[in-house]
Amino acid sequence: MHIAFAASECVPYSKTGGLADVVGALPRALAALGHQVSVYVPRYRQTKLADAQTVVRSITIPFDDRYRFCSVVTNGGHSSVGFCFVEYPPFFDREALYGTPSGDYPDNAERFALFSRAVLEGSKILGVPDVFHCHDWQSALIPMLLRSQYGEDPAFRDVATVFTIHNMGYQGLFPPDTLPLLTLPWDLFTISKMEFFGNVNFLKGALIYSDYITTVSRKYSQEIQTAEFGFGLEGVLRDRSATVTGILNGVDYDEWSPQNDKFTAAKYSPQDLSGKIQCKQDLLNAFGVTNPNLRLPVIGIVSRFAAQKGFDLISQVMDRLAREEMVVVALGAGDKPYEDMFLRLNRQFPNKIAVKIAYDNALAHKIEAGSDMFLMPSRYEPCGLNQIYSLKYGTVPVVRATGGLDDTIEPWDPRTGKGTGFKFSEYSGEALLATVKQALQAFRDQSSWQQLMRNGMNKDFSWNASAKEYVRVYERARQARGAPQVQRNYAGELQPAGR
Ligand code: ADP
Ligand code: GLC
Repeated sequence: MHIAFAASECVPYSKTGGLADVVGALPRALAALGHQVSVYVPRYRQTKLADAQTVVRSITIPFDDRYRFCSVVTNGGHSSVGFCFVEYPPFFDREALYGTPSGDYPDNAERFALFSRAVLEGSKILGVPDVFHCHDWQSALIPMLLRSQYGEDPAFRDVATVFTIHNMGYQGLFPPDTLPLLTLPWDLFTISKMEFFGNVNFLKGALIYSDYITTVSRKYSQEIQTAEFGFGLEGVLRDRSATVTGILNGVDYDEWSPQNDKFTAAKYSPQDLSGKIQCKQDLLNAFGVTNPNLRLPVIGIVSRFAAQKGFDLISQVMDRLAREEMVVVALGAGDKPYEDMFLRLNRQFPNKIAVKIAYDNALAHKIEAGSDMFLMPSRYEPCGLNQIYSLKYGTVPVVRATGGLDDTIEPWDPRTGKGTGFKFSEYSGEALLATVKQALQAFRDQSSWQQLMRNGMNKDFSWNASAKEYVRVYERARQARGAPQVQRNYAGELQPAGR
């Protein structure tokens, strides 16, 4: 099967969060299963290409008053996955991917509409896939375009679409006159299509027009069908519930494993944990903690700073948390109020909470390796990757039981020696404080703590199993489009469709 991914970020070329990790790793896992995979992403200023080669010189994208002309480049060389970068410097050669701390770029609708149309037009030249797999609102126009303006294009007659929701909190909401700006017809502006409380909603279009919808954990797939987590689109999802599946994200253990991490001070494994203390020392040095007491538990945080992540809970109870024997190290960047909140906590409790406002991949690795616990008190969390990385590093997750956090962390039971972390349900500072205290208490018994660490380190969240689940969804999507049940493979032999 040929699958074309369309997404707004992808490791190692561009990243603001977990979407990039997924789009960087899942295609390789699918290729390892024998599928042909192309990945379309924008070429941003931060996208470093060793050997850029233009493969499509000019694609015409219509806007209300003008045409824009973009191109597609590849990275040259050989890789199991074909990466295709949509190049249009006026839109993508900018300081950031989506906006600056003062807000989103005002032309984001045009930017990602151009990207989405370029994927379709580029694929007609580079190879129309069997399935377009689109991710989040930035590529959400693709399923809609395929069933509207491109509905009669013979090139796309049998193409199926699968759409993955990584976060219902970001929908791509724009004013109504965005439709004529993007040369889209007004008949899309109805409640059964893209209209949403008087605006145009890109994500809603994808939820209506895709053949299949997935999201990144089983629990989140249920949560988003309720008013609490659906951000107003729960009804649309309930209407389509027969086509909604939760597939847990995997982890790329080539990147995230204490045994071969290129960013950490020492390597360690479940059999030999001794290197972890060096990683702890190195981490505390990196945060400027001088003469650290290495017996103190370190609680790590690495995060986009956004309301989703639940850090207001820490601020509610920090004065009491600060009485505990521990140190918090926090790395993050994002919404200004949360950046300010962390800086304030650091000023108030300089010996208890060390903070870096930055995006720093090397430091993120050092925190995973050098901390004893990892805190994710998210208000909601579609999957969450850091807690899964933490398990592998023997850094015990303390999480709120929501979405993927609930699906991936099993509560520690000292009597049975089973479990991988600590979790709380109620969204309150009190619940967070009680659970952190429980973890700190457990840390005092180092021999059972090592059992807890090893339980997590021995878990396997690699991509293989989830990639196979995606293949099943692609097959169902193709069947829904009436795709042939047999097809020819590259050697021209007949075989069941889907391989
Ligand atoms: P989300 O996608 O909601 O941000 P995830 O847990 O799925 O949450 O993924 C976050 C990813 O982004 C992880 O790979 C994490 O290490 C990385 N990340 C987040 N913030 C930072 C930061 N400030 N510096 C470095 N890496 C970060
Ligand atoms: C989103 C979610 C996060 C998830 C990531 C990758 O950004 O917030 O929970 O892990 O996408 O799917």
